[in-house]
Amino acid sequence: MNGKRILEVGCGPGIWAPWFKECDYYLGLDWNAEHIRQATEKWGSDKFQYEVKDVRTLAKSSKKFDFVIAFGLLHHLDDEESIELLTAVSNILSEGGQVITIDPVFHDKQNLIARLIKKMDSGKHIRMAEAYKELVPNCFSDIKVATTVDMLRIPYAHFFMTLKR
Ligand SMILES: C[S@@+](CC[C@H](N)C(=O)[O-])C[C@H]1O[C@@H](n2cnc3c(N)ncnc32)[C@H](O)[C@@H]1O
Repeated sequence: MNGKRILEVGCGPGIWAPWFKECDYYLGLDWNAEHIRQATEKWGSDKFQYEVKDVRTLAKSSKKFDFVIAFGLLHHLDDEESIELLTAVSNILSEGGQVITIDPVFHDKQNLIARLIKKMDSGKHIRMAEAYKELVPNCFSDIKVATTVDMLRIPYAHFFMTLKR
């Protein structure tokens, strides 16, 4: 992350900030003002900035970012909103930059407890892996995906995407 510029969309109260402390510049966006207040109180600085923003209305920006992070966000957005967001962030990636997403995922072999935990999630758009992949607009040609079932101590599956233009 050294020398890199990072945009985190749907950053929540900023729990990932320590992972990015070596970066050059970090901007976290979330529409929840209380989350942004907490993140700013804990991590805010010239380098680490947080703003209240609905990321569904992400405008074209002249600022470019090496990484766009969306951890736990796409399952809060419907298909159209997700595709719009991924298209918008593709336009603000610097040369060689990438988007990284992580979301809960449904899969065929999931046990009942894992399914029930996901049904309780406030995000209403938890998808199967194939459905997440269909959100990726054509402007991304290098798409890597993975599903993990061991990130948490409870039965829970996560879906990762790394997208490059
Ligand atoms: C599951 S939380 C993940 C928070 C953080 N990324 C993390 O991993 O801890 C989802 C976050 O997305 C934010 N969010 C959902 N829809 C949003 C939108 N349209 N614009 C901005 N933030 C949004 C929520 O407020 C919440 O903080």
